[in-house]
Amino acid sequence: MSAQQISAPPDMAARKKITLTDLRRKKEQGQPITMLTAYDYPTAKAMDEAGLDVILVGDSLGMVVLGYPNTLQVTMEDMLHHCRAVARGAQAALLVGDMPFMSYQVSIQEAVRNAGRFLQEGGMEAVKLEGGRERAETIRAIVTAGIPVMGHLGLTPQSIHQLGGFRPQGRRAEEARRLLEDAFALQDAGCFSLVLESVPSQLATIITQQLEIPTIGIGAGVGCDGQVLVTHDLLGLFDRFTPRFVKQYAQLYPLMQAAFAQYIAEVQARAFPSREHSLEMSEEEWHSFLQHIQSLSAHRWAETAVE
Ligand code: KIV
Repeated sequence: MSAQQISAPPDMAARKKITLTDLRRKKEQGQPITMLTAYDYPTAKAMDEAGLDVILVGDSLGMVVLGYPNTLQVTMEDMLHHCRAVARGAQAALLVGDMPFMSYQVSIQEAVRNAGRFLQEGGMEAVKLEGGRERAETIRAIVTAGIPVMGHLGLTPQSIHQLGGFRPQGRRAEEARRLLEDAFALQDAGCFSLVLESVPSQLATIITQQLEIPTIGIGAGVGCDGQVLVTHDLLGLFDRFTPRFVKQYAQLYPLMQAAFAQYIAEVQARAFPSREHSLEMSEEEWHSFLQHIQSLSAHRWAETAVE
């Protein structure tokens, strides 16, 4: 896709900060909510300028940026480092930080403290955490501390070993019933929104219709109130695998490879840097410098001759 085919970003001067109220209003008015993941300053800036509603600093960064096989090794420090970069790049989008594995499971007190770090040290405005009814008490405590929480149901990558891999969830009637109940439990606990990952479209649509809070789908069909994708998947930057529900809006990985290969070839052939990419001294300064060198070497020669 060429740059001309992508519509121009909205007028940035007119963009206001997106709040939880804006998301709720979008749901009420049937306007889809847009969300993507970002992990660095330039990506966050480009998304913000394109008019995105919500930026999630997802723990998916463990896989797409840090090269881990899953999200389980991601730490609070990893998350906060990337959150700060994103916060410096985004002005208007609502910023959500993903709580990593073991940052909210051990105790409610630790969960509240870690959630607070996302706001105090990471520049985020809300946190996201995975799980259903078993997380309700933790979510209630975090929300009571004044920190907005986004829930995450369906395929919850931090439980891959329990789920038996990256598999769709809620395909059987009994599982679907549990997911609907969990969705209500998270809403009752105070979540302002809910990610539904890799669940059948019919189920995601019913959950969306039943809830007052907006749902954000990833592999959950068009019936959700909003959509999210992992940006490296959308840009074709992650070469390990691409889930079926991902649409690639660009293929940047081959473009990067081609650029690197061309750079290597040009450096090896001394074609880079050419004159236009080099600095030069003025004739006058260069001559003055040459004279200095010449007098220096004449002096050195005289010294050697005396010895
Ligand atoms: O970590 C992440 O990127 C996520 C999205 C897939 C919702 O949780």
